[in-house]
Amino acid sequence: MTPITHIDDLRRLARKRVPRMFYDYADSGSWTESTYRANEADFQAIKFRQRVAINMEGRSTRTTMVGQEVAMPVALAPTGLTGMQHADGEILAARAARKFGVPFTLSTMSICSIEDVAEQAGAGFWFQLYVMRDRAFIERLIARAKAAGCTALVLTLDLQILGQRHKDIKNGLSTPPRPTLANLLDIATKPRWALGMLATRRRQFGNIVGHVSGVEDMGSLSEWTASQFDPTLDWDAVRWIRRLWDGKLILKGILDPEDARLALEVGADALIVSNHGGRQLDGAESSIRALPAIVDAVRDRIEVHLDGGVRSGQDLLRARALGARGCYIGRPFLYGLGALGEAGVTRCLEILHKELDVTMALCGQTRIDRVGRDILLPGSYPGS
Ligand code: FNR
Repeated sequence: MTPITHIDDLRRLARKRVPRMFYDYADSGSWTESTYRANEADFQAIKFRQRVAINMEGRSTRTTMVGQEVAMPVALAPTGLTGMQHADGEILAARAARKFGVPFTLSTMSICSIEDVAEQAGAGFWFQLYVMRDRAFIERLIARAKAAGCTALVLTLDLQILGQRHKDIKNGLSTPPRPTLANLLDIATKPRWALGMLATRRRQFGNIVGHVSGVEDMGSLSEWTASQFDPTLDWDAVRWIRRLWDGKLILKGILDPEDARLALEVGADALIVSNHGGRQLDGAESSIRALPAIVDAVRDRIEVHLDGGVRSGQDLLRARALGARGCYIGRPFLYGLGALGEAGVTRCLEILHKELDVTMALCGQTRIDRVGRDILLPGSYPGS
């Protein structure tokens, strides 16, 4: 096998190994996918200042995110159905993240449950919450996350209603999945994936099935979830969750400075500048373009994180320079997982770390904590 040196190598390998309906689920955005594309492309437009003859020994990418030490300013983003990219995907990704020293965030819509991940990969991961109409279920879910030792709650605010994704509809990716004949034939050509799935009993949404009365299988689950994403979610609901959860609270899906100020007012510890990886409001601004105005609006009173389009260590450094304390990666780790399981997630993190370290050095920087806007070329980044 040719060496894997780049995130795109993992993407190509995942595409070969993961059944099309699940690969497409990860590698797509809503409607025209313009925001999905802009998330990546807008990073490329931001240029570094090349500096020379500066002692670059003793570099460190270590920092903190919501007070937690991290080996580099990265966390794994919450992604639904991760256990369909690879059998036991959430457990494998959580293990890889723990060994590398970065946080893993478990989605409400994961295949492996909170308890599975805590038992198999160890406590201390973060948990992502979707607000459902069934508030008693939310209270129980928060209590389960607490009992499992989750240290931060990531509350997603940009999915009260689902942005339409053409590929999922065409592939029959619904709950329960209704794959097309072409997709079933495609699964038959991915024996490594299929054998892995046969070897694990976990193929349902473990955080939900068996934890809501009457929801015992994929059929009853589909009826329940269809009615559960809560269109009435508002800042009062966020305040209610702030009262229920005494750990670190991170609000995900902020793209507007006005919403950033509201996030500050409800007492969150951090906010994530995010458009859900271009999967929700198609036509919204890319995350990296939205970042500077949000950083300026909250002025150090709350940690600002970012996700969307981060594909390299260079992107991590660009975001950090523009004020993001840390970035979450979604597709990059999913590609690693689909390509090579746990080893692929580790490879993804190694690639990002190496790129971050070398780019810092070539910009004349030795400490991630000292990086600021001055490492970027004026005129190449938003707000300059
Ligand atoms: C997501 N995302 C997401 N977000 C969330 O809060 N809960 C979830 O269950 C999911 N599910 C999900 C599935 C898949 C397949 C993807 C790709 C994304 C959004 C995710 O947390 C993050 O915002 C984006 O993935 C970041 O963009 P990149 O890194 O994928 O470009």
